[in-house]
Amino acid sequence: MIIVGGSSSKDLAKELARLLDCQYVQALSTRFPDGECYTRIDEESLDDDVVIVQNTYPDPNLVEMFLLQDVVRNLGAKTVTLVIPYFGYARQDRVFKPGEPESAKVMCKLLDMNCDRVFTIDVHKEDMLRYFTCEAKDLKAAAAIADYFAGRKIDMVLAPDIGAAGRAKDVGTRMGVPYDHLQKTRISGTEVRIQPASSDVNGKNVLIVDDIIATGGTIVAATQQLKEAGALSVTVACTHGVFVNNAIERLTGSSLDGVLCCNTLENSVSHISVAGVIADALR
Ligand code: R5P
Repeated sequence: MIIVGGSSSKDLAKELARLLDCQYVQALSTRFPDGECYTRIDEESLDDDVVIVQNTYPDPNLVEMFLLQDVVRNLGAKTVTLVIPYFGYARQDRVFKPGEPESAKVMCKLLDMNCDRVFTIDVHKEDMLRYFTCEAKDLKAAAAIADYFAGRKIDMVLAPDIGAAGRAKDVGTRMGVPYDHLQKTRISGTEVRIQPASSDVNGKNVLIVDDIIATGGTIVAATQQLKEAGALSVTVACTHGVFVNNAIERLTGSSLDGVLCCNTLENSVSHISVAGVIADALR
């Protein structure tokens, strides 16, 4: 097996190759003066099962993925597996208002044209993988998150909304602590309202788990609610730290005690590695 690291996921791809004890190849990706993607793999042949690790977010990374799929085929890949740590456009998975595209479906169909197998990680709605005709599987970061917090003082795991309740259950069960979810109402793109927790959080060290932090609005509101209810500490661990605008500053400037995310998107707080979860799936 050969692991090819795209420009969005170099560290994760390298770690994966190390865990699997296989060859790592870095795609040499850059931009033409007009902004278009140029990529090259400096190998004579890739005559093996090839795994490309690359996000499809933001848009330039999606284009790089399409180009890498073509390159590895041209270099003789026996099979092509795509590992897409953060799948862009997954949240527009249906037509919410007439006239909108089914963006997630479009992306699946385009990627599907040139691969044999796909792995995503905590994709927003797993159901969208039905648009792939090849084998497609969503891997879960819960084990990596639970392992990271094992031995740290966490009394309870909470999801900020019902959509993440299964994730809280998975992490809480693995850690052997109670879990629950809050009730969230979205007011705007950046603001949400969180109802008081039904579980008693007074004096507890709470871990909030979610799939994505984008603006940070969800986590700021949840933290405020939990602190008002007497939580001793509130830490958040999400899978995908998208952190739009100044979200990391917004979070670290709030009453939150810790912000962590997985390395599906590489940034200053992506200290939880999903390489082990991916390696297990590839083995
Ligand atoms: C929503 O369904 C997701 O699970 C996240 O809770 C949401 O995307 C977080 O967005 P934000 O950080 O902008 O509140």
